[in-house]
Formats: sequence, structure tokens, C-alpha cells
Amino acid sequence: MNDERIPVGVLGATGMVGQHFVKFLLNHPWFDLTWAGASDRSAGKLYREATSWRLDGVMPEKAAALTVRDGQPGNGAPRLMFSAMDASVATEIEQAFALAGHVVVSNSRNHRMEPDVPLLVPEVNPDHLKIIPQQQRRRGWKGQIATNPNCSTVVLAMALAPLRQFGITRIVVTTLQAISGAGYPGVASMDINANVIPFIGGEEEKMQQETQKILGDVTPDGFRPLAAKVSAHCNRVPVVDGHTVTVSVELSNKPGEAEMIEAFSSFRSVPQDRKLPSAPPNPLIYMQDKDRPQPRRDAERERGMAVFVGRLRPCPVFDYKFIALGHNTIRGAAGAAVLNAELMYSEGMLD
Ligand SMILES: NC(=O)c1ccc[n+]([C@@H]2O[C@H](COP(=O)([O-])OP(=O)(O)OC[C@H]3O[C@@H](n4cnc5c(N)ncnc54)[C@H](OP(=O)(O)O)[C@@H]3O)[C@@H](O)[C@H]2O)c1
Repeated sequence: MNDERIPVGVLGATGMVGQHFVKFLLNHPWFDLTWAGASDRSAGKLYREATSWRLDGVMPEKAAALTVRDGQPGNGAPRLMFSAMDASVATEIEQAFALAGHVVVSNSRNHRMEPDVPLLVPEVNPDHLKIIPQQQRRRGWKGQIATNPNCSTVVLAMALAPLRQFGITRIVVTTLQAISGAGYPGVASMDINANVIPFIGGEEEKMQQETQKILGDVTPDGFRPLAAKVSAHCNRVPVVDGHTVTVSVELSNKPGEAEMIEAFSSFRSVPQDRKLPSAPPNPLIYMQDKDRPQPRRDAERERGMAVFVGRLRPCPVFDYKFIALGHNTIRGAAGAAVLNAELMYSEGMLD
């Protein structure tokens, strides 16, 4: 590993998503994890003492030896900071880092819907980074904040991206969301075992609004959300990793089935053109088998960074229905944020 990599920090490094960042950044070709931040409860301890490692495999040795810092700028924090902090504290702390000149690439929900903050999916709306100069002017920041979507939204937005050419007018989506999306300890085993919980607080609203923002347009002055109506039904199911969404979509241009499958299969975008290190070669993988994709068999493929689509068929109410699946803690959290930072680096925004 060359030592000219860019030093990066993780705010909220001891939490569930923070641990995914630590794991995902291990051996990253461009980024070197040199800094870990968490609450005052953890500050001053070694990462190995402050963290109950909950992921498969062992805690990476380099992270284990870092001294955890508190959530304030200074303390040798590098310019590029990933954020996986508890939502109750993320607003103020992320803003303090942006004010102090840091590039904050956040996984928290706090700034996602702000009118001057990009809600990025590099394959879908890389141009939304255009809003950053306005953000810096308006807020007087030398630094900046960019966000990634909610873990179920990213699966939907990726699957819909190649259908924009057909004129999306209405979307109804039902989710089957994995328990890892609820963090640790998450949903009680007595509630989720052999059961379905048809409620995830705030999730349906997030999915509806975030999808419209991501698939909408940007000008240097602001965002114009996609005009399509989105209706989401969100459910927690007894799956460990991998959010499945079933989608019915209405399209004004009435494409044929072969055109739809070709649109999914041939979809490529900026991260693939630029060969960003975390970009899957094929961001959408259309599966022909009638019973795929499935979370246990497919979510981890392509390092958890691709979205799998299948079962395209006519919808008697709208035009088409299909299924999509993505890894919620990788493509829906840490991997998404790291790909965002790679895009920003490739745009010269980390120079
Ligand atoms: N879980 C998921 O799959 C998932 C998916 C998408 C998005 N998210 C979002 O990601 C964020 C983190 O979720 P999580 O499940 O990882 O939560 P978590 O396990 O509870 O971790 C929260 C992290 O925030 C830190 N923290 C708390 N108060 C702090 C403060 N005052 N200053 C600095 N750091 C502080 C905690 O440090 P201590 O260890 O010191 O308390 C810990 O590192 C949330 O905003 C959540 O909505 C989660």
C-alpha cells in the first residue's frame, strides 16, 4: 500500500455503521483511515477498548490501535471525514467540521433533505455536486457536506435510474428490509423471529422524498425534485443483510419489455467510466431466473455494491413491476459514502 494515500477519519467510528466504514476502508487504494471519533464516553480510549466489534471477522489491527477522539474539529482530524454519528448529534457536529474546512461525507439522515446539500448516488446524480459552491457561499463554510441516501432508497433510486429515459410518472414500492438496517441491538428477536413488522418509523416519508430529490434535477441555485409521485410501504423482515424492494412503475413512453431489460443491463455511469475503486463494473445486474434476486444469495456479491434486479413483468395497474435488491449496510451506508468520496476526489474536490 503506498503511503501517499489520503488520510481520512470516521466520526461515529465505534457504532454499527462506523464499524462498516472501518471494514470497508481496510486496504482502500486511495484512502487511509488515520482518525476515529466518537462520543465523550469513548474519547481517549483505544478503538479496541471503546468498540464492541459486531461485524464478521476481527477488528482491523490498524483501527484497533487508534486513539478515539471526541466529536470536535481539531485533534489532528484529517480534511476528509466520513460521518456515521447518531442522528441526535450529527447536525451540529457535521456543521462544525464543515465550518472548520473539512469535507464531510455523511451517512446520517440529518442533512439529506437540505436545499443546498447533495444527496448523492454517484451512478444516478453525480451532477448534484454542482450545489456545493452555493452551500459554501450560503453557510460561509470553507468545507462542505455531502450525504448518501437511506439504505432502502438507494436500492430504489439505482433501479429507477435507467428508466428515467422512459418518463417515470408514478411509483409504488414495497420494501422487505433486513434487521441489520436497524443497527445494534436493533429489533428484539422475539419481535422479528418468524415475523414481519409492517412499520419502520419515518422510513416511508424518507423513501418518498429522497427518491424525488435524487432523481430530480439540479441547477447551481437549487434542486428540482422529480415530479413523479412515489408511494412507499416499508416492512422489516427476518433477513440479516439485504433490502429487497418490489416496485410498480408507470412510464409515459411505454417501452417494450426488451427495452426495459436492456436499459437495466446496459446501465453504466460516471463511477464506471472513471473506474472508481469501489464502483461495481455493472451497477445493475438483471437476473433472468424467476426466483432471483434473493438477499441471502445475492446481496454480498460484487462486494455488496451492485443492485440486483429481476422479475420484470407487466403490471395491470401501472406499466411494469419488478424486484430489486441491495446490501443495506454496504451500498446503503458505508460503501455508498466511500463511493461518494471517490467521486468527489475524481472531481478534484479533495485537492
Ligand atoms: N444501522 C444502519 O444500518 C444504518 C443505515 C443507514 C443509516 N444509518 C444512520 O447512521 C448513523 C449511525 O447509525 P448506527 O446504527 O451506527 O448507530 P450506533 O451504533 O448507535 O452508533 C452511533 C455512533 O455515534 C457516536 N456518537 C454518539 N454521540 C456522539 C457525540 N456526541 N459525538 C460524537 N459521536 C457520537 C457513538 O459513539 P459512542 O460509541 O462513543 O457512543 C457511535 O460511534 C445514524 O445516523 C443512522 O440513522 C444507520
